[in-house]
Amino acid sequence: MPKITILPHAEICPEGAVVEAEPSKSVCENLLDNNILVEHACEMSCACTTCHVIVTEGFDTLEESSDDEEDMLDKAWGLEQRSRLSCQLRNLSNDITIQFPRYTINMVSELHPNKNNLGAEDKKSLSKDDFSVSSSAVSHLVEMMKSNPGSNGIRISLKDSGCSGYAYNLDYVKDEDPNDYHGNFSGVDVYIKDTSLIFLKGTELDYIQEGVNHNLVFKNPNVENECGCGESFTFSNKPFAELK
Ligand code: FES
Repeated sequence: MPKITILPHAEICPEGAVVEAEPSKSVCENLLDNNILVEHACEMSCACTTCHVIVTEGFDTLEESSDDEEDMLDKAWGLEQRSRLSCQLRNLSNDITIQFPRYTINMVSELHPNKNNLGAEDKKSLSKDDFSVSSSAVSHLVEMMKSNPGSNGIRISLKDSGCSGYAYNLDYVKDEDPNDYHGNFSGVDVYIKDTSLIFLKGTELDYIQEGVNHNLVFKNPNVENECGCGESFTFSNKPFAELK
């Protein structure tokens, strides 16, 4: 059977490993079968990027990637020419060597530096450096809250966007999620999903007028590219580069 050599990765496989690949199973399944706990947030349905690996040897022997895999890979962190989604890699005919990217989106909540640096009761507090809300945005959020009596605040998270990359998601909070980060901005409670915070670090939420339109605008220094319609965006690697 072909072998998969896994290069060391601090969290997933600190010593590195070599495993025999059952060809009928995906690389992701083979890794999990050998207790190498690669992320697989979408349960291997080609709907996330958390199983991303870089095939450093044997790339040319692999079956070609599908359009769906290519589309998902465009959203992956640390994308390289030899990147693949391990859940989509099957039917290995030769030995390969793989490397995990340094971070995946699912690792972020555990790796965010604030979690290690703050006292227990402050672990989930937003600092000014994390996120801020302009006075005009506060006024708008107050109006939003008035139209949704019973809500306890606004929750901000990121979601995959069908257009390109990510989009912001705003929800009204009824029941707080203890994993969320929280800040009170002039009386308005804002919650940020823990895995989204690193991508929002340094963001100011503003409310601006353009012609006859008023919009909430995220002034996010981590955004690298926006799609033509302005609905979705991709991030630079800066947030991960700052994690040590
Ligand atoms: S586990 Fe989600 S794409 Fe592979």
